[in-house]
Order: sequence, then C-alpha cells, then structure tokens
Amino acid sequence: MDLISSATEMQQRALALRAAGRRIALVPTMGYLHEGHLSLVRLARKRADVVILSLFVNPTQFGPNEDFSRYPRDFERDRALCEKAGVDLLFAPEKESMYVADASVRVTEECLSRGLCGASRPGHFSGVTTVVAKLFNLCQPHVAVFGEKDAQQIRVIRRMVRDLDFPVEIVGAPIVREPDGLAMSSRNVLLKPEHRRQAVCLRRALDVAKRLVALSERNPDGLRAAMEAEIAVAPDAVIDYIAIVDDYSLEPVVRVKRPVLVALAVKFGNVRLIDNEVLKP
Ligand code: PAF
Repeated sequence: MDLISSATEMQQRALALRAAGRRIALVPTMGYLHEGHLSLVRLARKRADVVILSLFVNPTQFGPNEDFSRYPRDFERDRALCEKAGVDLLFAPEKESMYVADASVRVTEECLSRGLCGASRPGHFSGVTTVVAKLFNLCQPHVAVFGEKDAQQIRVIRRMVRDLDFPVEIVGAPIVREPDGLAMSSRNVLLKPEHRRQAVCLRRALDVAKRLVALSERNPDGLRAAMEAEIAVAPDAVIDYIAIVDDYSLEPVVRVKRPVLVALAVKFGNVRLIDNEVLKP
C-alpha cells in the first residue's frame, strides 16, 4: 500500500492511473476506522481495480463549538487496518496541503442541507461538499463509496454530483451495527461506559417506528411521540432532533404515504450520535 500526503502528488498519481486505464474507487473517511469503513472498502474493491482511502479530519465541516479537536485519531492503527483491508493507496493529506491559507471558494447545496443535521450544525454540509468536491478532483474516482449512516450527507453528495456534473458514481453502503444495535461510528469511543449502554436507545426508537409503520401508523406525530418515549428510557439522552421526512426531498411529511427517512440525532454529554432508517409504508 502506498501512502500519499501531498494533494498535488495525489492528483498526479490519480491522473496517471486514469491514463493507464485503471478504474479508481474512493472511500472518503475521517479515520479512526471501524468495521463500517472496512465494509466500504470491500464494496469499493468489487467496483474498481484501484482503491484509494482518504483519511482527513476536515476542519471546515466542524462548527466552532464542535468536536474537531476531540475527534478520535490514530494514524498508525488506521494505516495497519487499511493495509490489511487491501487498500491500494492511502491518501492522508496535511491540512496545509488541502487548504491554501486564503481559500475563498466553497461548494454549497442549498436545499437538502437545510434541515436535520444542517439545522443543528450550520455550515457543516458546505464543509462536507467542499472537501468531497476537492477529494473528487484530487483522487479522480470513477466510483465513491459512502455509508448510509450519514443519510443526509449521502443525499447531499448525490445532489452535488448531479447538479455539478461530477463523473462519479456514488454508492451507498448499509449501516454496520454493534451486536446490541448501535450504529458503528468513530465517535462511539468518546462515550462514557454508562452512555454507551444507553446509546442503544437510538436503534430501539427506530425499531418502534418501524413496527408502528408496519401496523399502519401513518401520522408522523404518532411515530415521533413513540420514538421520544423510547429515548426517554435512557436517562442521559438529549434529543437533538427526530425527523420524519420524505426520502427524496427531505421535507417533513404530514402522512407516511411514500418512503420516509426516519432520522434522529441524540446527545449523550458532548457526544452526538445519529442513526436512521428508510421506512416504506
Ligand atoms: O463521512 C465522513 O467521514 C466525512 O463527512 C467525509 C465524507 C469523509 C468528508 O470529510
């Protein structure tokens, strides 16, 4: 596995790979890899002959009071996991190599980014679209793989690719869960043991919504109330949002008639967890 830390060198290598007729898959990550990321690598492997994993804790997608400095990092562990997973090229740029000091252009999606996490984290999605656009230009992928846990993120990225004509196929990978149902996330390691035990309430709340939709509940307020009751079982959980939105437009629904994205964000202390499921009536 090759390691590249310069953006310019990455782009030169990717262009050379393309010129040689190689098919490139990109797995963008912020590191502290877990089984969820490795499942993205496996999907990437099936769809291309060169797999690039990018590892960059992108400062521009964190708000001033968010967890950029606390975000878990362990480069040597990540490097070993990439090697073992069969990544061909690990792109781990320095911040200075990604952003020039007076960078003044951002990519902003203006519709899907507004609600859900976008409402609680102003500027987050323009940080994501900007860095993903840069990663696409630097790594020149034919295909890029993202986890479905970040449901709003993958929809925003698909919209960016559609509206700005990036020649990249976006592939979504199913959420990978711990044995008790908690969605895998690099942030899980930041949870106190007691909060880790309570965090299973996110999955349980989604299960309740799923059961109710199967029993013909069509009122989003009924679903939300049942989910809130399930989360209230966890004494330290603080709900950021529970959203029941149209799966395509991400607009709130008044009746569950078409597929809906049920998404939630819950805080335990200063650790914010997200989870979601698409429910089909
Ligand atoms: O999902 C993530 O880890 C990040 O948001 C991404 C897509 C790598 C951009 O920094």
